[in-house]
Amino acid sequence: MTFPDGFLWGSATSAHQVEGGNTNNDWWDFEQNPASAARWSSGDGIDHFHRYADDFALLASLGHTAHRLSLEWSRIEPAPGQFSRAAADHYRRVLTALAETGMTAFVTLHHFTLPRWLASRGGWLAPDAVSLFARYCARVTAEFGDLMPYICTINEPQMIALHGYLEGYHPPGVTNPALWRRVGGVLLDAHLAAVPAIRAAGGLRIGLAVQLPLLAGSGSFVDVMRHEIVDRYLDGLTGVDGGDWLGVQYYRKQWVDASSPFFFAPPPQDVPVTQMGWAVHPDGLREMLHRAARVGLPLFVTENGIATTDDTERVAYLRSHVAAVRQAIAEGADVRGYLHLSAFDNFEWSEGYRPKFGLIAVDDDFTRRPKPSAYAFADIIQED
Ligand code: BGC
Repeated sequence: MTFPDGFLWGSATSAHQVEGGNTNNDWWDFEQNPASAARWSSGDGIDHFHRYADDFALLASLGHTAHRLSLEWSRIEPAPGQFSRAAADHYRRVLTALAETGMTAFVTLHHFTLPRWLASRGGWLAPDAVSLFARYCARVTAEFGDLMPYICTINEPQMIALHGYLEGYHPPGVTNPALWRRVGGVLLDAHLAAVPAIRAAGGLRIGLAVQLPLLAGSGSFVDVMRHEIVDRYLDGLTGVDGGDWLGVQYYRKQWVDASSPFFFAPPPQDVPVTQMGWAVHPDGLREMLHRAARVGLPLFVTENGIATTDDTERVAYLRSHVAAVRQAIAEGADVRGYLHLSAFDNFEWSEGYRPKFGLIAVDDDFTRRPKPSAYAFADIIQED
């Protein structure tokens, strides 16, 4: 079976992971803080801020028909209510260059980073965080709505809450179960407030990107995890205007264990793991696509990928996960695209530049070198 007509193929990045020089957000501060979980500074990123046009041309030459990127809120609104003309002009040039390649843009408005001014007011716990986010969303839609055929409000609300407020692994580095659950709810509210704000500003197809790991285990703590990570969002998008599509991001199977550090047990000995120590389990993607289908929206795989220095592992991961998508479609899931993470080796948050998620390597002088997996992906796209 081939993929449905118009199925979109491409890769994903986010601003802070590739642009470089994002010094005005909460992540930059977290990276500079020796007491935080972050081991590196994002520094110059891969200088995508200046090299975006060549990067898009390279991805298009590899057969990609879509590309996902994010806008950096702290550049667009560097101080509360002050919107930067220069940043808006920059992103208009970026999105125009992307459109000129013919690739369909998926534009994320919030991918992990918060402007420093908002973080200092309490971030997602600030009393007006939801309305400030909706205002920012309306503003960027008014600026670039014509260049954003697919808008993703928030990347992985569950991971923002989990990593930032339960594990202390992302900013603000808090470990508080009550705040973890509260922030999860705030982020769902923020998405639901952004949808009408974006529609009113003339925005096109609006979605939310959720990471849906296959969670193993049983017991009350597992139920809490499953609720906070999976069901809260799938239920919360059902029966309301939750947008026009849903992004499913899948990497791994995880064994929930309340007594382990970070609340997950390491994978069993016989399970293959990645550079991140994550368990490879392609059928989990098929399963989670079916789970996500219950929301009733068209689905896109907006992230899926592997950190490895052995590119043959990436080729195998790519093939097995694309096969899982194909099977989910054959079984009835309405999946309309697959975006691999990442386009490039880039800044992998608290793990810095060590994990290699890219289809394309980046040398110290910023030279881009497509790996064999980039060409294997091009073949998969061509066979479709
Ligand atoms: C994030 C990406 C990240 C990937 C791999 C996802 O949680 O959206 O930014 O690179 O996981 O860790």
